[in-house]
Amino acid sequence: MPTNMSIDSDASDLGRGANHGADDASQLDTTSPSTDFAGDSTSGQLDGLSASGGANQSSKRERFDDTGFSTQSVHAGEQRQKAEGSISAPIFTASTFTFDSTDSLMRFVEGEEQRDEYGRYGTPNERTCEAKLAALEGAEEAIIYSSGMAAIVGLLMSRLNSGDEIVFFDQCYHRSREFCAKHLSRFGVVTRQVPTGDFDAMEAAINPRTKMLVSESPTNPHLTAVDLEKFVALGKATEVETLIDATLATPYNIRPIDYGVDFVLHSATKYLGGHNDLLAGVLCGRTEALEPVRSLRGILGSVNSAHNMYLLERGLKTFELRMQRHNENGQRIAEFLNRHPRVERVYYPGLPSHPSHEIAASQMVGFGGLITFLVKDADWKETSRIVDAAKIPRIAPSLGGVESLIEQPLVMSYYHCTPEERESFGIYDNMIRMSCGIENTDDLIADLKQALDA
Ligand SMILES: Cc1ncc(COP(=O)(O)O)c(C=O)c1O
Repeated sequence: MPTNMSIDSDASDLGRGANHGADDASQLDTTSPSTDFAGDSTSGQLDGLSASGGANQSSKRERFDDTGFSTQSVHAGEQRQKAEGSISAPIFTASTFTFDSTDSLMRFVEGEEQRDEYGRYGTPNERTCEAKLAALEGAEEAIIYSSGMAAIVGLLMSRLNSGDEIVFFDQCYHRSREFCAKHLSRFGVVTRQVPTGDFDAMEAAINPRTKMLVSESPTNPHLTAVDLEKFVALGKATEVETLIDATLATPYNIRPIDYGVDFVLHSATKYLGGHNDLLAGVLCGRTEALEPVRSLRGILGSVNSAHNMYLLERGLKTFELRMQRHNENGQRIAEFLNRHPRVERVYYPGLPSHPSHEIAASQMVGFGGLITFLVKDADWKETSRIVDAAKIPRIAPSLGGVESLIEQPLVMSYYHCTPEERESFGIYDNMIRMSCGIENTDDLIADLKQALDA
């Protein structure tokens, strides 16, 4: 009898086993109809396949580390042979997972067997996406959340204690700032904002209570690329963990873990999902550092439905192709806007005029599809006329999907701020943010031209 047999009948009490046992997604064999999840290369084989077995028929999740980006995004993290021979991911809607016998349950609670147990601690479809995203990011492990914000909240709640401090660069998604400033503070965590890219200011803000340095790269909506070498060097020198929200870059354009960043976060709602049809978040990093984070996720319950994960996995298959078009559209449209007489300023890291262009060019493969620009001599109403005149992009928040989106930050996200607050966040009345989708570049340029010329 194990010593920890104070198990009550609620499956939630068993979550420790699942969480602790799940530290290597590549070891999990969760989509096989077999009940053996031990993860060796034969245990996941489907009945009747052994004759044609061998490496190709193994159900183990491979990372495809030495292949190209698309080969990896199509195949990594998946089992070679899925249930019923299905080439696409079977959708497992189960909220709970059965045990053959008390013996099998005992092996699980003793940590001898790795498998799924209860949906709040992880599901087969989540694990496939996690393994695929970890491979794409070059990370040991990835944890999927129900949204990008859930991932930020999950990480910070897990890593910080009352009395701790974090320092973050001030250009960032407004809800991340709001969580730190308004909510972490209620739990006794102090957040210090410093100007984006000012490493002297960041260093000066660090003290013995500082536990995390936080930045986006590029930032939303000003598209400032942060020098990751300096960021990591500062974290290491001061023994403070580092977090990069790389939502706008994606692992196609930059892989912060290669620079030594501790945690990388994405709103998978954006480019990773890529079709404006799902919400999800992902956190990547070292297995050991993520273990308590995964454990807290199992309590917070910020998990995903199997259908949502199916959409994410499907979206990831075309990730590289979509990113190539997003990058191309972003660059060409930014250049077009930069030349247009009605445009005062364009924020796009692929333009030599952007203050962080040099850093971006040295770190990034491409610069993504998000562009922010200011309309010359326009008040908020004139600016909104341009937004309304555009026929292809739809007026909506978010970014990174196949459909182009356009919005005026003043009205969309910062309407309830005071003018002073907007000024301090660098949000102007004549500002437009456009997320270039994958439509044909010439069509988008022609459309923006008619909207600006109207
Ligand atoms: C840079 C960045 N990080 C995080 C988030 C939050 O992601 P989600 O909307 O998936 O919660 C967003 C959302 O726009 C974002 O732009």
